[in-house]
Amino acid sequence: MKILLLGPPGGGKGTQAKLLVKKLNIPQISTGDILREHVKKQTDLGKKAKNYMENGELVPDKLILQMMGQRLLAEDCLKGYILDGFPRTTPQAIGLEDLLTSLEQTLDKVIVLDVPDNDIVDRMGGRRVHLASGRVYHIKFNPPKKEGLDDITNEKLAIRKDDQKDTVLKRLGIYHSTTKPLINFYQDKNIVEDIDGSDEINVINKNIIKSLANV
Ligand code: AP5
Ligand code: MG
Repeated sequence: MKILLLGPPGGGKGTQAKLLVKKLNIPQISTGDILREHVKKQTDLGKKAKNYMENGELVPDKLILQMMGQRLLAEDCLKGYILDGFPRTTPQAIGLEDLLTSLEQTLDKVIVLDVPDNDIVDRMGGRRVHLASGRVYHIKFNPPKKEGLDDITNEKLAIRKDDQKDTVLKRLGIYHSTTKPLINFYQDKNIVEDIDGSDEINVINKNIIKSLANV
């Protein structure tokens, strides 16, 4: 099963992807998580991406497409995958089509998480992350078992640098102008499923699973 999660920053893509990984036993491919790993390791890509990410801007399409071209070749992708945060621009969506054609694959479902902008700002203020694994928590809506610590490793949780209010608003603006138009791109292929992303985490998860039943 090949699924794409599309939605605003803080819309719950990472949270839902992690739940789907457990249920479907296919990998989550989060371009944000992969890029943060490159930044941490100070690779060439990480050095190029760092400023864009911290400023809440998109990393150039060419770099993202090169990175994803490699990632989709990995063996763990043979059974399927959950794309989280890619594609985000029309050139990326076209690039993905080309990649999929060369791999003789097609996307089965595009899940669109719809969340009002006001909720997003609240969510980002309380987000805590385990950077190494990409596990995501919220101090109120999805707290870890022990305050400030990751449930699995007990390591300290962090606040993402791009979660300050101004940066979040900038990312939201880019989502509306540049990423949201992709919904139309995929609607033409009849694979879009709209999910209310303002429900509770478990309710959203159930609705997504239901929408995958006919795949
Ligand atoms: P990325 O890491 O992908 O950030 P994003 O798209 O802005 O999305 P987030 O990870 O912030 O949010 P999310 O939807 O995963 O929500 P989450 O589950 O964490 O990208 C970061 C940067 O990398 C970009 O700005 C860009 O620079 C670069 N980049 C990445 N991909 C790129 C690409 N393809 N092209 C170019 N550049 C790229 O949830 C948020 C919070 O809400 C959490 O605290 C969570 O616990 C809580 N929450 C989740 N669901 C609910 C709920 N239902 N109710 C209440 N709280 C909830
Ligand atoms: Mg995320």
